[in-house]
Amino acid sequence: MANLAVFASGNGSNFQSIAEVIVKTEHSIEFLLCNQKSAFAVERAKKLKVKVYTVDYRDKKRESLEAEIIKILNYHKIDLIALAGYMKILTPFFVNTYKNRIINIHPSLLPKYPGAEGIVKSYNSKDRELGITIHYVDTGVDTGEIILQKSFVRTGKESLKEVEERIHTIEHLYYPQVVLELLNRLGEKG
Ligand code: GAR
Repeated sequence: MANLAVFASGNGSNFQSIAEVIVKTEHSIEFLLCNQKSAFAVERAKKLKVKVYTVDYRDKKRESLEAEIIKILNYHKIDLIALAGYMKILTPFFVNTYKNRIINIHPSLLPKYPGAEGIVKSYNSKDRELGITIHYVDTGVDTGEIILQKSFVRTGKESLKEVEERIHTIEHLYYPQVVLELLNRLGEKG
């Protein structure tokens, strides 16, 4: 058995897809951490009966806020952190504290289109092949070791909305699978 925390900032659809899979396993989704009190992810967590911590980055040094987050992670004995649309950059201090135990999902085929607006940048490119990347988090922006990539070929006739939907469908299918596989591995070790 292993303990998971999910960090999200907005809609939280990936958080929900992970939670729905993990609650059916021996593993525990301990909490959702969110940096936006009014994010829809918080509503989803309440419905799913997942504990929520909200953090406020304003007027705080990033590392001191992260030290508070680390206290929460330690209290819950977190083995794995899954970033799911968490739009804050984690400092090297935080990333190194949880080295190889933070993963992220990104809506492009990295190393293409890192950072914000991955779907729009992919859509506006001339690439025929689009997709998603699940990767470990290192101290760069979307540069960590790749765990899984899934792609599809577009016809070129799709709207941005259609591409977005396709990407989210793939994310919701594969992110929970990767999280579960890593929790299984961590559970064996622990
Ligand atoms: C997802 O598409 C995820 O890949 C992306 O944010 C969205 C969150 O959606 N993440 C990034 O762009 C990270 N750079 P959700 O809140 O509905 O899960």
